[in-house]
Amino acid sequence: LPGAQVMIVSNREPYIHNLVEGKATLQIPASGLVAALEPVMRACGGVWIAHGSGSADRETVDARDRIAVPPAHPDYTLRRVWLSDEEQDGYYYGFSNEGLWPLCHIAFVRPSFREADWGEYFAVNAKFAEIVVEEATCDDPVVLVQDYHFALLPRMIRNRLPKATIITFWHIPWPNSETFGICPWRNEIIEGLLGSTILGFHTQFHCNNFIDAADRFLESRIDRESGSITLGGRETLIRPYPISIEWPPSPLATQPPIDECRRRVRERLGLSSDARIGVGIERFDYTKGILDRMRAVDSLLSLHPGWRERFAFIQAAAPTRSKLSTYSSLQNEAARLADEINKRHGVRDWKPIHLVVRHHEQDEVYELFRAADICVVSSLHDGMNLVAKEFVAARDDELGVLILSSFAGASRELSEALIVNPYDTTSMATAIDRALHISESEQRERMRLMRELVRQHNVYGWAAQMLIHAARLRKRERIMTG
Ligand code: G6P
Repeated sequence: LPGAQVMIVSNREPYIHNLVEGKATLQIPASGLVAALEPVMRACGGVWIAHGSGSADRETVDARDRIAVPPAHPDYTLRRVWLSDEEQDGYYYGFSNEGLWPLCHIAFVRPSFREADWGEYFAVNAKFAEIVVEEATCDDPVVLVQDYHFALLPRMIRNRLPKATIITFWHIPWPNSETFGICPWRNEIIEGLLGSTILGFHTQFHCNNFIDAADRFLESRIDRESGSITLGGRETLIRPYPISIEWPPSPLATQPPIDECRRRVRERLGLSSDARIGVGIERFDYTKGILDRMRAVDSLLSLHPGWRERFAFIQAAAPTRSKLSTYSSLQNEAARLADEINKRHGVRDWKPIHLVVRHHEQDEVYELFRAADICVVSSLHDGMNLVAKEFVAARDDELGVLILSSFAGASRELSEALIVNPYDTTSMATAIDRALHISESEQRERMRLMRELVRQHNVYGWAAQMLIHAARLRKRERIMTG
């Protein structure tokens, strides 16, 4: 797309400024979306439009609400959008995270759909459409719309900038049409998304689910062969683009050798020098199967008591969306469960579960990955899950075993992991025991294949695929319209 203006729209901003002890302090949020798109924006430049959510965000922008980022070596512009408390409650906490999030993940948390939330969701989408138009320097920009916060935005942009190339990526699963059908605004959401030129999901399965929903609920023309849907004379391509991470990952550049990482982590947690280590790292979200994983550790220690005093599981969890009771009660439940398991199996000052609830910087995350014998990703449902890919990328020693849920999109690609059903506690416990017994040579064989896959299918390839498809469609459109 030579010379084209590129804009990204997402709810979460890549750089947050928070007031810490009276000073504006930079934070990179825990978000798979940000982890994937930030390196792409650094490489191609442009404008990233996102909600300014930090307590010191307003102090760090210019008069047009912009800031050049990354602050130390600017490559692109971040345009912050301010949302009132009502807007955040209705659009972000309400419709996005109490409606669409549980709906799409089918994690057995009942989605809540409230008319007032929908009203805010609509209004905030319209507000971002306005800002896209304001930021556009031509009539045919390339706009990359991100995630379930903006289902209505593609059509709103299309109405205002008919020649724009709109590439929308849905970072979470898309459920089957019976499930999606319970959303009172299902038609508006599907119609909104069909304002896109290209609509991407992580897997073919989610593309098929979306096509089925459009077929069932709208008067659209479906071409399953080419994966396209035509509504009101406009075609949208529905395609799988499995997201990935940058390669080599930048946090690796400053990491000490593996042995040093192990030493530091063991020392910090008071573990013996020969303790085996398991890790789980993510946002404290009920879709991630954190309780299920702790129950598996419990079961491991009951089935194989020989691991007592020899194995420690570190669960690093970043508080997220804590205003919602489903999230705050999960945090309470996890703390209670960790205590219960630690009481049951603890010996003197040794305990099996170390629950560390706080935001972890990227360096700390990579240090934990590098110190671990095993990493457990037990999502109950996940679009892709980049933690799995980051663990693999962090292991340049080619050791370590990944235990991965079959319900994470990543399991389609990282098939050399030990694939588990997180709802089956005993088999997950057995997988942990097996992982701790896998020989170094087998670890290497598995890890090499997974590292090669992530290296080849990195996030630049992910973005390039979509942009190449978009460039082709742009050229075709120009030929067709003379
Ligand atoms: C998931 C979503 C992203 C979101 C991230 C963090 O990965 O797909 O859109 O940014 O979670 O959640 P938060 O609500 O903190 O942005």
